[in-house]
Amino acid sequence: MRNIILVIYKAIWVFLFRVKNACFTLWFRFLLWLNKVSFGKHCQVSGGIPQIRISLKTDVSIGDNAKFNNYTDVAWYSVSSLWVKKGAVLKIGDNFGINGGLICAANKIVIGSNVKIGGGTKIFDTDFHPVNFEKRKFSDEQTKTAPVVIEDDVFVGTSCLILKGVTIGARSVIAAGSVVTHNVPPDEIWGGNPAKFIKSAL
Ligand SMILES: CC(C)(COP(=O)(O)OP(=O)(O)OC[C@H]1O[C@@H](n2cnc3c(N)ncnc32)[C@H](O)[C@@H]1OP(=O)(O)O)[C@@H](O)C(=O)NCCC(=O)NCCS
Repeated sequence: MRNIILVIYKAIWVFLFRVKNACFTLWFRFLLWLNKVSFGKHCQVSGGIPQIRISLKTDVSIGDNAKFNNYTDVAWYSVSSLWVKKGAVLKIGDNFGINGGLICAANKIVIGSNVKIGGGTKIFDTDFHPVNFEKRKFSDEQTKTAPVVIEDDVFVGTSCLILKGVTIGARSVIAAGSVVTHNVPPDEIWGGNPAKFIKSAL
């Protein structure tokens, strides 16, 4: 008897989850359209609605088959977010996947195809505030920014920080919890804080 109830419960749960995701996806696509983001076929969301803060006068595009996962569990609250500041560029290729991470572009972030971003990872092309205390007293205008490039087929583990000016070479892997401050060549695994070469990814 318990097995039958369990099967029915699971079936209803899966059905409702799919219906919710279909509604979230429709709403998210509407928000992208409203914000003049060009996006490809089969852009999907799951578990919640990603947050988008896209200023006017930006250039944002997302390729085909993008998947934005979101987690609202108390133990792991992590909603995918896209912030694009005035004048900034964000380009995301095909088959992109992100698990509740944040991408913040104040300058330019270019992400290739088949890139997977682990839960809670943050990608910034800006320091948000100037390093010099005098310069950040009253304004953040002199903040340093530099483009970030993540090439095709890169996998970034959970809870990483990818900082301004970094290029991660094609097919490379960033280990969980890493802080990436320097360029990573293609086909390598890097990890730690600051991230260093661990081994070849081939
Ligand atoms: C990078 C990774 C793929 C390497 O896995 P692997 O090939 O099985 O490598 P190993 O576990 O054998 O580790 C190799 C070396 O890297 C080190 N290493 C592994 N993960 C590391 C990390 N997150 N930070 C720093 N060093 C790490 C190990 O200590 C080991 O060092 P040693 O050779 O000195 O002993 C894996 O550790 C990882 O971080 N996976 C990401 C998981 C994830 O976040 N998924 C997304 C969820 S949304």
